[in-house]
Amino acid sequence: MGLLHIDSSVRTGGSVSREVTAAFATAWREAHPDAGYTYRDLAARPLPHLDGIAIDARRTTDRHEVERELVAELTAADTVLIGAPMYNFALPSTVKAWLDWVLVPELFADEETGVGALSAKRFVVVTARGGSYAPGTPRHDADFQEPYLRFVLGRLGVDRALEFVHTELTLAHSAPNLAQLRDKADESREDAHRAVRELALA
Ligand SMILES: Cc1cc2nc3c(=O)[nH]c(=O)nc-3n(C[C@H](O)[C@H](O)[C@H](O)COP(=O)(O)O)c2cc1C
Repeated sequence: MGLLHIDSSVRTGGSVSREVTAAFATAWREAHPDAGYTYRDLAARPLPHLDGIAIDARRTTDRHEVERELVAELTAADTVLIGAPMYNFALPSTVKAWLDWVLVPELFADEETGVGALSAKRFVVVTARGGSYAPGTPRHDADFQEPYLRFVLGRLGVDRALEFVHTELTLAHSAPNLAQLRDKADESREDAHRAVRELALA
């Protein structure tokens, strides 16, 4: 049993996504004191982009060293926690770089059964956004984080045990034009903390 905890905010101080993933990790580790724990900071140690050499190596048994390390780390975990700020309506490019390394052909689910090597794993994705993209808001369709991750993780057979926790309006306390949304921002942050505590103990 193990938790793979990935953060990607470029901020080290004041990052809301880091704060909420840390709350999940703390509660999960308290509940599973004997389980393994691996932490990967994609902002502090960005991965190289996937390259042609690595792609060619996928046709051989001699896989690229970065791919081997990342796939081994992912397959060893049974809970995967991803913290991702929204940058320009999408995931940070460091998270996309990680996905490009780990989305190897053998991890894709069987088209007919929908079952793949990662199907039994649980994914918890924590996002932080300056604005709000909740259902019913004008920007709902501009959320290219959750629909994209649902689709790619679905292709790996991870769809039943996939949870999203969005902390929204994080810019309300610094952007004057969002000042009237400060209460909603605080509520979203409290809800996110409550949600990850419950998920960590579930
Ligand atoms: C480069 C950059 C792009 C951003 N793009 C968006 C965006 O498209 N939509 C949005 O709501 N907030 C955007 N934000 C605000 C962040 O999503 C917000 O500050 C969030 O809290 C960052 O995550 P963190 O608190 O974990 O660092 C952007 C911030 C940065 C630095």
